[in-house]
Amino acid sequence: MNIKDLLNQMTIEEKLGQMTQLPPHMFIEASKTTVYGDMRDLELKKQEYLLAGSVLGIKDADEMISVQNIILKHSRLKIPALFMADIIHGYETIFPIPLAQAASFNPNLTKEMNAIAAVESSTAGIHVTFAPMVDLSRDARWGRVMEGYGEDPLLNEKMTKAAVDGYHHGNPKDVGYLASCFKHFAGYGASEAGRDYNTVDMSYERFYNVYQPSYQVAIDAGSEMCMLAFNTFNGIPATINRKLTQEILKKQMGFDGVIISDFDALHQTVAHGAARDDEHAAELGLHAGLMIEMGSSTYLTYGKKLLNDGKITLKQIDDAVYKILALKEHLGLFDDPYKGASKSREKTLVRSEKHLNAAVDLSLESPVLLKNNGVLPLNKMKKIALVGPFSKSQALLGAWHWHGQSSQNQTYAQTLSKDMTLVSVSESYDVSHIKDVDAVILTTGEGEYDSGESKSKVGIDIDLQASEAIKTLQKNNIPTIVLVHGGRPLNLTSITAADAIIYTWFLGSKHAEVITHILLGNVSPSGKLPMSLPRHVGQYPMSYHDFNTGRPFDPHNSEYTTKYLDIDLTPLYPFGYGLTYGEASVALITELKNHWDGSSPLTLIFQIENKSNFVIKEVLQIYMNMHPSIPVRPVKKLIHFKKQLLNPYEKVLVEFSISIHDLIIYDEDKNQHFDPSTLTLMYGFNSKDTKEIIIDWRPHHDIT
Ligand code: BGC
Repeated sequence: MNIKDLLNQMTIEEKLGQMTQLPPHMFIEASKTTVYGDMRDLELKKQEYLLAGSVLGIKDADEMISVQNIILKHSRLKIPALFMADIIHGYETIFPIPLAQAASFNPNLTKEMNAIAAVESSTAGIHVTFAPMVDLSRDARWGRVMEGYGEDPLLNEKMTKAAVDGYHHGNPKDVGYLASCFKHFAGYGASEAGRDYNTVDMSYERFYNVYQPSYQVAIDAGSEMCMLAFNTFNGIPATINRKLTQEILKKQMGFDGVIISDFDALHQTVAHGAARDDEHAAELGLHAGLMIEMGSSTYLTYGKKLLNDGKITLKQIDDAVYKILALKEHLGLFDDPYKGASKSREKTLVRSEKHLNAAVDLSLESPVLLKNNGVLPLNKMKKIALVGPFSKSQALLGAWHWHGQSSQNQTYAQTLSKDMTLVSVSESYDVSHIKDVDAVILTTGEGEYDSGESKSKVGIDIDLQASEAIKTLQKNNIPTIVLVHGGRPLNLTSITAADAIIYTWFLGSKHAEVITHILLGNVSPSGKLPMSLPRHVGQYPMSYHDFNTGRPFDPHNSEYTTKYLDIDLTPLYPFGYGLTYGEASVALITELKNHWDGSSPLTLIFQIENKSNFVIKEVLQIYMNMHPSIPVRPVKKLIHFKKQLLNPYEKVLVEFSISIHDLIIYDEDKNQHFDPSTLTLMYGFNSKDTKEIIIDWRPHHDIT
């Protein structure tokens, strides 16, 4: 297809239609498809909405085919629509929520999950997923932390790359390939006070060093679209923020794809107080280079008038439409507008046994073992009582589960009873009647819909009834294993007396089966926290990646140092923390010189030793700091990690190559700095318990 020729034949109305994304119920009255966000009556005439260039949230292959037929029938130039949806952690076979995927510290798993999600969703006619969400966040009050990869830039980058690579399964024109739309540009995860949609205001130093890198990774991995954030970014709504879209996203970061708004966000610039009315919003959107408005219709309604009034240029419209048509061509829609959408293929492929089995394998590394005084793993012969609100629950998929159905999930009561004697099962926290058991499994946490979009909250403590139950059981000498459910970090301070604690997150279609495997020791847990767990909600925003301050906390002389009067400064469990059933040790075996000039990489070789008879996986983490440095550096910054499989008593050598790339720090103008300094490298199995290597950093004269 010659896109330029096509563009030349299009009327202004047809072009503005391409720049509009509408939900399918506009085309099929009866459609019950869920559309996220507040759906207003757009007051469009039928001949206007039939011009829409893309559709949000299609139900299945049949619906896709009929909507595509309606659109093609009315399209003078036979331009097919693009179908987009939020395939976040699976289509119908549901995988762990993204935050739990990050907890695996194994990006390859995410790549495989997303490849399956791409195969399933593309048989339903979906062409683009609104994922990955790569918004770094350090505030558990923000419900959307479930949808991201946590608090750390490096982990976020590695997960982002894997996520995009997974969706991009095969070639763009192939069935099974899902184009990706990284989101939400920019800084959505830094909304003030963790309140969704709230203001984002940050220094460019922080943006460049902490928030921007993952968006860049998505671009470099070939993500075709970028969704702008709902929030203001440094005073201007991202949707119409020209500096953000033109200077930063396009010029500085080299993004050359399609820019879309979030749902209804162009219209919402009026509520932000930025646009006078919808007409003004359309003008501002076009000037900022916003190419598709999702869920609102200001372009369709006012675009032509704005052009006639000379407030916008035809070039602004043409540039946007060209990119949209080019994406359709890239995905092969001009050759095959239905591209693999097939009800019969859907039946055999979607939620197939093969995909469900993969869901088990790919989810096993997400649960995080926080405490174990030896009660785990459980012996198959044990007599167990199962209590708490999740005991018989099927609601274990996680909040963005698209077409996943909880009703198809197994419960703990079902999976545990296959291998253990379940003496009693109760959904309450009442344990007073429990006697004559070897252990109690107590389920607690927040529900699957307590996190996600618009699910901000300040109450992140575990239900007090859970700690009361633990006390009662301890009085009666009954070991207690706590399974915590959550889409965000929760405050576990009240339950640390339990004998064992597993942070299960929400693992999707095979949640209960996966946790059962871990409880039984069929697999040793190997997850690590992608966000620190707090002692109190008042600590937010928090991360291990903080600066030292001029008055670092000193336990021996705490007056006038940075601290809280009423709570320990540290997290309850730090970033990168997680136990396994065995025990490993690590030793540096490279003999290092005490200086380095960066002209060649610094090789670090470690020996990890499994000191147990369990098969385990450990994550060796390398952190760094440089002092002095301007701008200042975080006290610790993760620069490498490696997850290593270890057979019983096995010793394995693990090698890392440190390069000057690991030392990069940007100032507010995005200049890099490599000044002479003392480089401290730290290594360990979590961000807190690390050993140090000190190196004199004297950069070679070629390094600027
Ligand atoms: C969310 C986006 C999502 C869109 C479409 C919005 O409310 O913020 O992340 O992609 O809805 O469902």
